[in-house]
Amino acid sequence: MRKQIAAANWKMNCTYQQGEELLDNILGAQIALADHQQVVFAVPFPYLIMANSEVADEKNYFIAAQNCYNKKSGAYTGEVSAEMLHSIGIKYCVLGHSERREYFQESNSTLAEKLDLCLEYGITPIFCCGEPLSIREAGTQNSFVEVQLRESLFHLSEAVISKIVIAYEPIWAIGTGKTATSDQAQEMHAHLRGVLAKQYGPVLANTVPILYGGSVKANNAADIFGRPDVDGGLVGGASLNASEFIAIIKALK
Ligand code: 13P
Repeated sequence: MRKQIAAANWKMNCTYQQGEELLDNILGAQIALADHQQVVFAVPFPYLIMANSEVADEKNYFIAAQNCYNKKSGAYTGEVSAEMLHSIGIKYCVLGHSERREYFQESNSTLAEKLDLCLEYGITPIFCCGEPLSIREAGTQNSFVEVQLRESLFHLSEAVISKIVIAYEPIWAIGTGKTATSDQAQEMHAHLRGVLAKQYGPVLANTVPILYGGSVKANNAADIFGRPDVDGGLVGGASLNASEFIAIIKALK
């Protein structure tokens, strides 16, 4: 079975102490994960080492950075490289979240560079894509998201495409309480898998986990994750509440 992932994106929330308590509460639930299930916490940079030591003895629990820079090293004050993340044992990195695309002008080509650097250092990128409301209303979401994939991912070889995770996050559903229906999620995820299959063939396309993000909560996770092409979720607001996120982990296939 494809990897099924419940990923928490804390964004710029929680103090160090609150973050530590949140992790303790979630890990304290001692949810045993099957071999194909994983839980990932994308935490702010200053908490990476603490969070990584919290999950060190837990099977299939991992820590992610929320971003990295698109250069290997050098005079880029304030930035964090993939090599630095690797050097502290980080296994995942969220790339191209819509908030980074919008507030930090991240382009598809910059993201392609970040993907390469993560893969070079053995870090699994969680590559985010998704359309704004205007595109959804115009009915052109499929081609919009296809371009995001083509321009950021399609330079990758067949050998590495199965090492990435995709997160489909319709921007109109992020933090709005307005979730895509599970039908809308399934429809887009099947489209994305089809786009991957056209480029890499159906066998490889079938290996890539595609997560859904956008107002995933304890009360809708099982419905959304239950669809055949939805392999878990990337969760913002609800991941900051231990009991909500515990229920979301339990909703994994
Ligand atoms: P919400 O779950 O708060 O809608 O955020 C989704 C998201 O952006 C996760 O990356």
